[in-house]
Amino acid sequence: MSRSTRKAGLKLCLIGLAAVLMYGGTAAAGVLSVCIDKSSPGASMDYGVARAVAAQQGNTLKVHEFDGSGSGDDGFPARQFNKLAHDSCALVLGYPIDADEKSVLPGLHATAPYGHTGFVLVTAKGSKATDLDQLPSHTSVAVTYQTTPNLYFIDHPQLQADVHLSNEDALKALEQNKVHAAMLWQPTVVKYLSQRREAGRFAYHELHEPHAQFNLVALYDSGNASVAAAFDKSIASMTASGELARILALYAETGPAQPMVHVAVHGRPGSAWWRPRTRRTADRSCGSAELKRRHATASRAHAAALPKLFTDAQATEGKEKFLAICARCHGPALEGRVGPALKGPNFASAKADFHVGDVFTIVSQNMPATAPGTLEHQDYVKIMAFLLRENGYPAGKKALTYDEAKASKVELRYHGT
Ligand code: HEC
Repeated sequence: MSRSTRKAGLKLCLIGLAAVLMYGGTAAAGVLSVCIDKSSPGASMDYGVARAVAAQQGNTLKVHEFDGSGSGDDGFPARQFNKLAHDSCALVLGYPIDADEKSVLPGLHATAPYGHTGFVLVTAKGSKATDLDQLPSHTSVAVTYQTTPNLYFIDHPQLQADVHLSNEDALKALEQNKVHAAMLWQPTVVKYLSQRREAGRFAYHELHEPHAQFNLVALYDSGNASVAAAFDKSIASMTASGELARILALYAETGPAQPMVHVAVHGRPGSAWWRPRTRRTADRSCGSAELKRRHATASRAHAAALPKLFTDAQATEGKEKFLAICARCHGPALEGRVGPALKGPNFASAKADFHVGDVFTIVSQNMPATAPGTLEHQDYVKIMAFLLRENGYPAGKKALTYDEAKASKVELRYHGT
């Protein structure tokens, strides 16, 4: 068996956010080695669960990323899972197993379920319907080609199928009011909604139909039974302590936390979560009024000397993006919620010792946490401009570019009052 260890060392050591990803290799003492489908809409969840389990076990995490989106009509070939589990990692995370069938791929075993996902009914928010039977007759319902929900029209002949080639198209049809409901894979819906300002217009509900519910498991081959047993043990303890629910809840877009993960229309693997090592921040206010005033004067003087990295227009557009995409986790005033505060002395502190490029790297590669890296480059730049302005940096005449933001060694310190 070849055990090549290609280390694609993407090493992000940025305050609370540290991710060490290495490619290849199998389980060894002190290492938890997992495979994650980077094409899965819930890949960030897989990372979350993997990081949390590795931390819980005191192991280093090794991640082998693969692209499970497959090609052609057949999707990702099932035997690839055997190969991954044999050659690349001890556990292949995020594999969804039909809750009604419990079938595992031949030659592989599954851990106990650690998450849950499935097909959901998506409706406009005002709609009272939470189930197919409650939709008015002749409602047209968007579905994606060759997915299980196509079969639900057989038992619900009062509904009209509107079949789309991709989940994205089906969601667009709903967004444009061409259909009044859709039946789609939950992680796809969550990922899509997390990128839209219209998110508030939709609601989704579990579908109570055959083969709509899935459990997420990790697949392994018999050589890694002990790793799987340790994984199950960690998951059980994180379930008991509430930590698993906390991790999963981070990705629940609406309503009560419901672990949601990724796809598996024709046997594609899924995904799981992410460990929020949130630095809780409470802006400390300075003692006396005199101190405050002196501090204010000092920072105004300082601000004059600060580099002008962005234009006001960029920051203003960035604010709009921030409110639409980031505010639900970081707060509309950047005060921090699930995610840490992004403004103030505890964020841009000497202790954190951030440079503009560091923060930009976090934002552009890891945010929004539920759909990392999915915004347009320009939108990341505008959001960065907004974060700088909020932290007391002055606007200038020259616009910030993506490459400048990424490379910037300008120290990030809070210069507000
Ligand atoms: C689903 C929730 C969520 C969304 C949406 C989200 N974040 Fe985050 N963000 C987090 C969490 C949780 C952390 C803490 C991660 C850690 O430290 O491991 C974080 C960390 C960060 C950090 C690092 C801050 C620090 O001091 O460690 C920055 C900067 C950031 N987010 C910016 C953004 C921006 C900009 C957006 C919008 C494009 C965004 N986030 C969207 C949850 C979210």
